[in-house]
Amino acid sequence: MKFTFQNTTQLIFGAGTLSQLGEVACKHGKKALLVTGGGSIRRNGTFDRAIASLNAAGVSVAECSGVEPNPRLSTVVRGAEIARREGCDVVVALGGGSTMDAAKVMAAAFYYEGDPWDMMFHVEENRKAPDRALPVITVPTLAATGSEMNGGAVITDEKTTVKSFVISRCMYPQTAIVDPELTVSVPKEQTAFGICDLITHVTESYFNGVDGTPLQDRFAEGVILTAMDWGPKAVVDGNDLEARAQVQWASVVALNGWVQVGTNSPFPVHMIEHSLSAHHDIPHGAGLSIVNTAWMRFAARTRPARFAQFAERVFGLSLKHPEDADAAAEGIDRFEAFLRSIGCPARLSELGIGDGLLQQYAQDALLLAHDDKGRLPGRPAMSEAEIVEVLRSVL
Ligand code: NZQ
Ligand code: ZN
Repeated sequence: MKFTFQNTTQLIFGAGTLSQLGEVACKHGKKALLVTGGGSIRRNGTFDRAIASLNAAGVSVAECSGVEPNPRLSTVVRGAEIARREGCDVVVALGGGSTMDAAKVMAAAFYYEGDPWDMMFHVEENRKAPDRALPVITVPTLAATGSEMNGGAVITDEKTTVKSFVISRCMYPQTAIVDPELTVSVPKEQTAFGICDLITHVTESYFNGVDGTPLQDRFAEGVILTAMDWGPKAVVDGNDLEARAQVQWASVVALNGWVQVGTNSPFPVHMIEHSLSAHHDIPHGAGLSIVNTAWMRFAARTRPARFAQFAERVFGLSLKHPEDADAAAEGIDRFEAFLRSIGCPARLSELGIGDGLLQQYAQDALLLAHDDKGRLPGRPAMSEAEIVEVLRSVL
């Protein structure tokens, strides 16, 4: 194990912390670009409370509203233009992962006159990796992506239906204000998708990381067990603030880098899912629910011991021997049953996706990430045909 770790985001966590937004923002200047989604925060009063806090601290606001789920490149361009025109000093992202991702790229695009798509990770020729961004403050209203405390963002080019990502040190938010009260209005389905997303963030590194990371294994198992304990409570009763808080803390930890540190893990399930949500505009967590279990069944063939460990430690199954393939398979069945029990889908047909574009999804996933043999990085690395096989298994 050998690594460098740095996460520069200050985290302010707990019910009621939204009221601190103004005092946090005013350290960065007098004018904020307030980036918001499709309207949920106006309906539940969060928007007015955020504005009141900002104004009380002497921060005025230029708004970029209407960031869509699976945020579009044109929205990023629009937001960066508003920020430049209005002379904004700081970007405040108030919404789900889509809003936070769009806001981060707007903050970087503020300093880049070209097409923000040039910054995306998959761009091989003349990529313009961002090295400067306006300060960003994230205020998540949905527990899922962990975007509030990491340097990543996922954006869709609606013209080409490619959903790609950018990760940069300069896009780490300065501060994340994580107030679980803001999540009580998230509908059951979306709450469940968020739980699936956060769990998938740690299963990716658990199953695809390098060997010899026992502490990270325990971190990942802790996140999964916590999400499985508290997630169903948040789904059953959205007003259960304790459950909302535990789920949201798990979602922060799942992708702020700490669980993955030193694992060098690629994220193959995410690469495949991003291709699906690019083409069909499905919720990211719903797509993951289908792809992750299908991928697990595929990967367990080559690494039964790893999946047997998951079955033993997460589901309490007893192993006949360390490579017990039956126990490994049962662990995956139990995982799928858990996801089903909270309302996540298991088949592409449940999201209205047929077999027409299977090869296209595989090619798009490979566009996002590939090794020198043209395979999707992961354990095992996957050929185009294998990605198609995995997706076909869950039609
Ligand atoms: O837009 P509004 O009206 O706010 O409604 C949203 C949206 O319809 C709604 N919502 C959010 N907060 C709410 C609420 N509804 C009621 N009450 C609230 N408090 O939820 C819907 C989904 O919102 P979205 O932001 O799209 O969800 P999520 O947080 O799951 O973000 C998904 C996006 O993040 C990317 C995904 O690919 C996807 O584009 N990801 C970003 C990552 C990162 N930056 O680290 C990592 C993830 O793996 C993921 O890929
Ligand atoms: Zn995710």
